[in-house]
Formats: sequence, C-alpha cells, structure tokens
Amino acid sequence: MSNLLIKNAQLRNQSKNDILVQNGIIAEIAPRIEKSEIKVIDATNHFVCPPFVDSHFHLDATLSYGLPRVNESGTLLEGIKLWGELKPQLTTDALKTRARDLCRWAIARGTLAIRSHVDVSDPNLIAVEAMLDIKEEVKEWIDLQLVAFPQDGVLRANSISNLSRALDMGVDVVGGIPHFERTMSDGAQSIKILCEMAEKRSLRVDMHCDESDDPMSRHIETLCHETLRLGLNGRVAGSHLTSMHSMDNYFVSKLLPLMHESNISVIANPLINITLQGRHDTYPKRRGMTRVPEQMNAGLNVAFGHDCVMDPWYPLGSHDMLDVAHMALHVAQMTGQNEMESCFDAVTTNPAKILGLENYGLEKGCKADLIILQCCNAIEAIRLRPPRLFVIKSGKIICSTDPVNYELNLSGEKSRTDLIFRRN
Ligand code: FE2
Repeated sequence: MSNLLIKNAQLRNQSKNDILVQNGIIAEIAPRIEKSEIKVIDATNHFVCPPFVDSHFHLDATLSYGLPRVNESGTLLEGIKLWGELKPQLTTDALKTRARDLCRWAIARGTLAIRSHVDVSDPNLIAVEAMLDIKEEVKEWIDLQLVAFPQDGVLRANSISNLSRALDMGVDVVGGIPHFERTMSDGAQSIKILCEMAEKRSLRVDMHCDESDDPMSRHIETLCHETLRLGLNGRVAGSHLTSMHSMDNYFVSKLLPLMHESNISVIANPLINITLQGRHDTYPKRRGMTRVPEQMNAGLNVAFGHDCVMDPWYPLGSHDMLDVAHMALHVAQMTGQNEMESCFDAVTTNPAKILGLENYGLEKGCKADLIILQCCNAIEAIRLRPPRLFVIKSGKIICSTDPVNYELNLSGEKSRTDLIFRRN
C-alpha cells in the first residue's frame, strides 16, 4: 500500500485538483495539497479517472486467433464451431500464457477489473483451472471475476454438473446461453435451473442472452421473471441482448419496464455486436447492438464489454475499453453531450456496479486505483483514445508511458501538436 501525491489533476466535471493517497486509499482531494517526503506525480492538467472495468470478456479464448484456422464467414455460429475445434487442443500452459499476455495489455490500457466468462463444457475443466490460477496470479493488479459459462448450452451439452463443479472450485458467477439451447422451451428451462443454482449459492448471474437477430428470441423476459421470482434483483446481468435491436417496438415498450422492475443490468458488446450481427441480412443491414439509449433512459444500468480480442469470433482488438466506448457511441448514435458522458460511464462506474466492486471511484475513502490520460475530459478520452500516461493501483504506479507529441515541420517552421482540443 503506497503513499502518493498527484498534482494538477483534471477531474471529471471539476476544476483542477490535487489528490493525496495514503496507504493505498484516496485520503484527500483539494485544489492545493502540500506534503513533503512523499512521491509526487504532476498530472500537468491531464484527465484523471478511475480505471476502466470490462464486464464481459472471454479470457480462455483470447489471443487464439488463427488456431486452428480463421473464421472465414465471420459469423457467431462459425466462431462457436471453431472454438469447438480448438478446445480438444487446449493446454493449461497455452491458456495461461495467452491470458497473462491479455492481462498485461489490459493494464497498459488502464483496465483493472475484468469479468471473464470461462467455458465449462470440457469435463476436465482445464480452462477453469487455468483461469482460476490466472485470477490468483494477477490479483495484485486486476480484479478478475469468473463466470461459469456453458458455451454449448447447459442442457444441450449436458453440462450442469461441470458448471456446478466449476462453482465449487471458486468460479464466482453463474452463466448461461439460453438462445443456444435446442428449443425456446429448453432455453427457458435452462434459465430457471441456472437462476435457482445462483439463488442457492447466493451468487450473481450473467447470461449470454438473446445474442441473435431473431426478434422472437425473448429469453430476457424469462430472465426477468426468474430474477423476480427468486429475489435475485440487482445481481443479474443480461449480456448482449442483441435481439432487442430487431424486436417489435410495442413488445419493447412492455419489456423495458419489466427489466427495470427486476433491476436487471445490461451488458452490450459493441465491437462484437456490430461485426457478428446482421450477417444474414442483405441491405439494409441491421447493426444488431441492443437498445442502449432507450435502456439508459428507462433507468437500467448499462455497461459495455470488450467480449473478444483476437479469438474465434473477432480478429482485432488490443483490450482498450475506449475503443469499446467509441464504437458504442457511433453504433447507438449517442452524440449528445450527456449521451457521450454516459458512454464513458458504461466502461467505468456502470460495470463496477455489475461486478460489485467495493470502494471504486475517485472520491475520498475510495481505493487509489486510477489512471491519467493524455486528454482533458471524458468525451475527449473517447474521441482520442489517448495514451494512459500513468496506471495506478492502490497508490502504486504499475504502468507508465511518455505523452505523445507530434512534431510538424511545415514550410520550414517546426511546431508540435498533441491533438487536444483547446477552445480559442
Ligand atoms: Fe461473450
């Protein structure tokens, strides 16, 4: 636990401040703090905020792009098939090496909490064991929360006992994939079984739910119903919910209040939704992302996840939550001032609530986990996706980089720009 003084920090919607960290906790935030014999960082009026939180990722599949072949069609279903081909070849060492590399990328991008789904369909649970080891290995830097995810369907692949064993081993959250079960009624049945399992164990639930362009994929309705029936309110998240994009408006006008009543959180995955959905369309092509602005306006807690980085479903990415917010803002056309701010919340405070992170934030008494970005505010962070100058965990600098300044030589005259917008 470290002590640290950060000078000239530009906080969100506030004027310039200094931040004093004592024993890894934010002890004071004030316009001017003087302290001797303490490590000092000058933020030079750059934007300081809490670290990014990724509420939806697949750490067991990450960085496996091209193994054993690439996804040529780009569809969700070919991705699942491809992952099925890769699974028998997975080794503990390779899984851990790739996950470790991804965690290093995440830290460099300022993400210090990740909820990762881990596939439980292998009876030997190799991936589960490997990810539990990684969770322990990175705990000093990253809060890693694991979800027991039956990729091939808990009923379809008969993986209830695997899932249950994964929870016994220490996996934190109950997952599911109702739209991938054989029938709609099996999907509904899987939700009932999995929510009951979570209720008995007092765990959170996070299901891949309705990741489909089919407007009749309405498992979210059942997820809300089971949440209310079992009193799981506030502990359940619906990931993807892409079918909501295609649903009838009248049905959605009934669904949104139900989601609000059951206090369900929403996790959209913009990079993946915009690439995987609408693949069966000609033109016009649907975007496929769930109805983010409408869900936010209905009072739901909405977060954005990265979902994939270089795996069977997505060939790109560097685990930058600002890429995610940038894509979401465009896909959802959230260009209003408050809407852009909301997109920043969706990769910081909103997912922190979903993970149940304690003492997260930039206030006195919170953990001194924070990042300094080479920009001036949250909207500019999304616009520039700038270097993370410092990444700080419990008051300790765990990553740093020099600011990027571009040197111009125009008509013999040298000048510099950092792309920051300064109103003249
Ligand atoms: Fe996912």
